[in-house]
Amino acid sequence: MDIVGIILAGGLGKRLDPLTRIANKHLLPVYDRPMILFPLKKMVDAGLREIMIVCGEKSRNEFESLLGDGSEFGVEKLSFTAQIGEDGIAAALALAEKFVAGRRMCVVLGDNLFEDDLAPELDIYGRQKEGARILLKEVPDPQRFGVPVLEDGSLARIEEKPEEPKSRYAVVGVYFYDNRVFDIIRTLTPSARGEYEITDVSNDYIQSNDLTYGYLSGWWSDCGTFESLFRASRLVREAKTEVADD
Ligand code: DAU
Repeated sequence: MDIVGIILAGGLGKRLDPLTRIANKHLLPVYDRPMILFPLKKMVDAGLREIMIVCGEKSRNEFESLLGDGSEFGVEKLSFTAQIGEDGIAAALALAEKFVAGRRMCVVLGDNLFEDDLAPELDIYGRQKEGARILLKEVPDPQRFGVPVLEDGSLARIEEKPEEPKSRYAVVGVYFYDNRVFDIIRTLTPSARGEYEITDVSNDYIQSNDLTYGYLSGWWSDCGTFESLFRASRLVREAKTEVADD
């Protein structure tokens, strides 16, 4: 499978201050382990063996101490690169261009935790040959996320954090892209919040009719706020307890 994994773990995690004043958000505990291990395990379980982590410049050493060469976690080839500052998710992804080296990629946001296996989605994307694929999840608070506008059963566009969401779905932080993504990122301009937005990337694929989408069926949470970080810990704990009870 010529698809590589990229975990985006840059950004400053300001909404979690003071937790993130010293520790990087993705190294904070989610129940029994540092956050970054969850997306990493999802990728490894799905068969991805070559993975790059884009982390914050100040915490690169901590990431490397925790993960080493990746072999303990089933990664065959683990690479790191550091993002300076917080110029957006698309800007963080751009840093992986050399590593990707013309292949296709599965990108997961480092603060996204979910129950579903990635393998079936990877399989679907593998057969798609080119273009992009995103995943949606019904949520009670879509205004916090990228929200898909679904018209006549098809995806017309995605709106980033709309005040009045046009659907009850969030675009989750799992994206499948082909190598064209880097050309698209080069055409972007920063949004009102000063970031290169991943939503603009996906909208570009939608405009060229080159984006498919699916749905997550299990639980999903980001960890960007105190409430969602707490919820993620609870969900992980519940999942562990269920397994232990079986
Ligand atoms: O969680 C899914 C949502 O993630 C999507 O629905 C939105 O469309 C997408 O924009 C994003 O929304 P947030 O505003 O919640 O993303 P946040 O700034 O919290 O960043 C999420 C992760 O992305 C973060 O844990 C690490 C990575 N990131 C973010 C930024 C801003 C970077 O690696 N570099 C960055 O500069």
